Amino acid sequence: MVTHITHAGSLSPGTLRHVFEKATGLGKQNYGSMLPGKQVALLFYTASTRTYLSFAAAIQRLGGEVLPGSDMKQFSSVAKGESLEDTIRVVSGYADCIVLRHGEAGAAERASKYCGNVPLINAGDGDNEHPTQAYLDLFTIWQAQRDGRLPKRGLNILFFGDNATSRTVRSLAKLLVSHGPDMGVSFEKISFFGPEGFSSPPEDVKAAIADAGKLGLPDHMVQLDNVDVVYVTRPQVEFHQGRKLEVMPFGLPAAKLLPEHAIIMHPLPRTSELPEEVDADPRAWYFKQSNNGMAVRMALLWHLFQNP
Ligand code: NCD
Repeated sequence: MVTHITHAGSLSPGTLRHVFEKATGLGKQNYGSMLPGKQVALLFYTASTRTYLSFAAAIQRLGGEVLPGSDMKQFSSVAKGESLEDTIRVVSGYADCIVLRHGEAGAAERASKYCGNVPLINAGDGDNEHPTQAYLDLFTIWQAQRDGRLPKRGLNILFFGDNATSRTVRSLAKLLVSHGPDMGVSFEKISFFGPEGFSSPPEDVKAAIADAGKLGLPDHMVQLDNVDVVYVTRPQVEFHQGRKLEVMPFGLPAAKLLPEHAIIMHPLPRTSELPEEVDADPRAWYFKQSNNGMAVRMALLWHLFQNP
């Protein structure tokens, strides 16, 4: 049966571990024999820099080809009223794999019903999920722990920012709970901190963490000197429908309160919640994290084509 990656849990811990091991050896080189001639359609209905370009780079470095659709809303037949279902039916007749970014939560799951045996990868659907971001995020933590940067004990992880509407928070938090322990990334507590009304993650995320007995202390009690990984997110204004959020920066004074071994992550793009002054701090890990995007996506595509 064809594997669609619609949510972070779409791959088993064993498979993801295999992908991480493969990604470890991959870098900015060409591996033309890994995906020779495979054509991958990138159908992006909403804005993207990293996800689009790291997928495109990954495909080309593996010897595959990109069928580009970077602005589907404006420059495809969507502008003439074509449905997502029809677009997917048509493109699955051309491509060997489809990568979809869409503004509606659940779009990837819906689309996966119309692409036959062509694998579909969710590159972010509304405020729902962003599985490949979660894979590269978990890979970053897994690697930092393997390399001795993070201690080899249960980690304290803090999500700081717009936890209520960030799809990256949902995907990573759920993946940590469901896959982390089996993959050797154990954690002590997952905590949340953010502006009023946006600090708490959605109920499904909270329940998954609470059921595992890993929910950290409430907002105001979080102590930064006890945190190993901070995952900062920007206000997801595109999903707020007029609700106002007070931006709370994770600046240098906050970074300095973390232990020296801690790492600061951010899926990017950043806005004022993560000032540039933090970049020079050795705990700033977000550009390493975004670099990992290409290697993890290469390993993932390689895996999908090896195991159709
Ligand atoms: C994230 C996204 O699209 O959800 N960006 C990304 O893919 N790296 C995070 C965000 O937009 O805030």
